[in-house]
Amino acid sequence: PINTRCDLMMFGALGDLAQRKLFPALYQLERAGLLHKGTRILAIARNKADSGEVRKTLLGKLKEHVRKDEFDTDVAEKFLQRVDYQFLDFTNPEGYSVLNDWRSKEPSNLIVYMATPPAMYGEISRNLRGNNCCDQNTRVVVEKPIGHDLESSKVINDELGEVYNENQLFRIDHYLGKETVQNLIALRFANNLFASQWDQNHISHVEISVAESVGIEGRWGYFDKAGQVRDMVQNHLLQLLCLIAMDPPSDLSADSIRNEKVKVLKAMRRITPDMMDTHVVRGQYTAGTSGGKPVPGYLEEEGAARGSKTETFVALKAEIDNWRWSGVPFYIRTGKRLPEKLSQIIIHFKPAPHYIFDPDQKHLANNKLIIRLQPDEGMSLQILTKDQGLDKGMRLRQGPLELTFSETFETDRIPDAYERLLWEVMKGNQYLFVRRDEVEHAWQWVDQIMRNWDDSGIPPKRYAAGTWGPVASIAMITRDGRSWYEDA
Ligand code: BG6
Repeated sequence: PINTRCDLMMFGALGDLAQRKLFPALYQLERAGLLHKGTRILAIARNKADSGEVRKTLLGKLKEHVRKDEFDTDVAEKFLQRVDYQFLDFTNPEGYSVLNDWRSKEPSNLIVYMATPPAMYGEISRNLRGNNCCDQNTRVVVEKPIGHDLESSKVINDELGEVYNENQLFRIDHYLGKETVQNLIALRFANNLFASQWDQNHISHVEISVAESVGIEGRWGYFDKAGQVRDMVQNHLLQLLCLIAMDPPSDLSADSIRNEKVKVLKAMRRITPDMMDTHVVRGQYTAGTSGGKPVPGYLEEEGAARGSKTETFVALKAEIDNWRWSGVPFYIRTGKRLPEKLSQIIIHFKPAPHYIFDPDQKHLANNKLIIRLQPDEGMSLQILTKDQGLDKGMRLRQGPLELTFSETFETDRIPDAYERLLWEVMKGNQYLFVRRDEVEHAWQWVDQIMRNWDDSGIPPKRYAAGTWGPVASIAMITRDGRSWYEDA
């Protein structure tokens, strides 16, 4: 365990995120023996209830959201002993004095986790400061979305910045807590084999696919204002792109890594109106099937407004104008109601300069590195070998050098992203959190696309739920003589 105790204030503790992800993650830290024995948690929400009732609710939620074989009643009870509940009207400054009473008198790190709508971050922060509930050492965790465009993100960041320094702010992008996402750093910078091949001399293009089989899951109100670009590309996909594309940081410190990511974001070519036809495809799902069952289209979901043009799918061709990546497109696609939940990155290497094998097989002659983020975290390097059999001559075949983490490293349980992120906050390590300038440069790039869409007024292309998005996304990549990698 870490050697400093933490007092954790969780705003929005009865909300969906806290119950589905945050408390189960904290429970796992307890189970792993990582929490300091003095660590306490104050669950804060707007519902009138007492600590006993809330502990009971949380126990039920833990049973629901923790895997059965990882649930242990004794651990859960020990964990819940740390939890108190405080009813609070977040908008009433006077109410906050009780939070101060709760704080431990012994030295401890205070962590404030805001699992609330971002519009509340500023007010909560000011009220905390007004009641001396925070100081220069307080760590503050905030969730996305930080705004819906550059301007609104600046407002939120300014409000946070009035109360906290940047080194106190832990902006979550939960993709950065995923095991394989961090492994990108290990893969690239611990293996010189790859490090020396990682540029436009050796790589022809990169694919990043984050497919989801779920639809809107009762979140139409939020999602319709956001859409897939704001919900997924601005944050998760651009973070993945940055980790693939960044230059080697000089060390593993938060700012060394974040400086390199920002350089990538700054070098991304703006998508101007004349590029929209060739670089961007947006889609919206219609009725279809998911897991063999019929599902409604986006416009027929509960609470849907007719005629919405919000995208539930996007495919983009991104280009990075720098020395390393000149001429190497990054094709990215992400969508709801696709055939399966699958996130993977594929690095397509260029073919050898001179080809001596069967001309019919020339299309096989480039290596691919497939990095699977979910499910079945792992990596696979597609290499070419000679086919067996006397009659095969020097015919080639492609096969994988395969590493599936759960098979190769049998004892390792892969922790959920939030477990790792909460653990890093407790240790005060910011390298898996997003800095203000990263958020803003990402918005700048995305805003341009949204503006182009608004100006053109063109509606999204339809795709049936359970398919890989509009055919135009296939056309986008085929036009460049390539195809989306199918064989997962
Ligand atoms: C969230 C988005 O940030 O990420 C959701 O708001 C999306 O719409 C989710 O479903 C995907 O996360 P994961 O970890 O399931 O890939």
